[in-house]
Amino acid sequence: MDRMRRLRRTENIRKMVRESHVRIDELIYPLFIIEGEDICRPVESMPGICQYSVDRLDEELERIDKAGISSVLLFGIPACKDETGTGAYDENGVVQQAIRHIRAKYPDMVIIADVCLCEYTSHGHCGILSGGEVDNDLTLPLLAKIAVSYAGAGVDMVAPSGMMDHMVESIRTGLDKEGFLNIPVVSYSAKFASGYYGPFRDAAQSAPQFGDRRSYQMDPANGREALREIEQDLREGADMVIAKPAMAYLDVIKESSMRFNVPVIAYNVSGEYAMVKAAAAKGWIDEKRIVMENLTGMKRAGAKMIITYHALDAAGWIREDGI
Ligand code: PBG
Ligand code: ZN
Repeated sequence: MDRMRRLRRTENIRKMVRESHVRIDELIYPLFIIEGEDICRPVESMPGICQYSVDRLDEELERIDKAGISSVLLFGIPACKDETGTGAYDENGVVQQAIRHIRAKYPDMVIIADVCLCEYTSHGHCGILSGGEVDNDLTLPLLAKIAVSYAGAGVDMVAPSGMMDHMVESIRTGLDKEGFLNIPVVSYSAKFASGYYGPFRDAAQSAPQFGDRRSYQMDPANGREALREIEQDLREGADMVIAKPAMAYLDVIKESSMRFNVPVIAYNVSGEYAMVKAAAAKGWIDEKRIVMENLTGMKRAGAKMIITYHALDAAGWIREDGI
């Protein structure tokens, strides 16, 4: 008789045969940087997460450093928005300032910056408009400009999230032309049009002012199309790819991690975070257990890294339990 329980008998045996692990150095922590002074504004739908102005960032950076987290993903909230999102490629933009600040204080921190226009456009779409629609090809040069600007400020990696066709190619070419040959492009390749981004849009003040993002983000039903998106981004020169959201799309993470020989990153998005925090606050679930189970599921599915708002808590728990 095959007795599976033999290898589950004690905690140390279970640890020995454990197949998947959540490692602190594979966690990426998102940060919302808001233009202005002396701001540390809690995001209501994301308990534990705040918008920070650059001058208040140090307290959070200290927590990040203490937790042993070595990578952050930056989102900017500019003071002024306009039709073409000029704040995104302003040399003194909020993200550019944050990059320089973090680079000076924590030279080893892996700084990744989200490259998109939605936080910077008055209409809140991820590209610029013509004839009431998001114009793919008019948007491409701006994305390259944003990436070059972030690279100039000292970013380690750029992460385009707007789901414009050929955004990777445009950014890669732009970076190379300016001599930034060694800045990787981490593409949000398989990004679905998801209800799970709700809390993020409060946090980043980036909700579209009309319509929705379904003409550029993917239909939640399409797994094969996600693989095509990834294939195309890799052809264009993406160094790593992101699948997003995570929990409802573990099949996409599984398939792509088996099929492509690049690191696949899972984005454990704001809505996933909010649900866990809300249920935990009510005492309906055990937060630590649920968070670690969710993150472990993403690793088991094949994610190499995980972008998560739980990163600081998770790092603490991982250290505590010596996993
Ligand atoms: C912007 C962007 C979004 C997220 C990451 N980059 C929101 C959106 O597409 O509306 C979502 C992240 C999250 O929900 O945690 N392009
Ligand atoms: Zn966007």
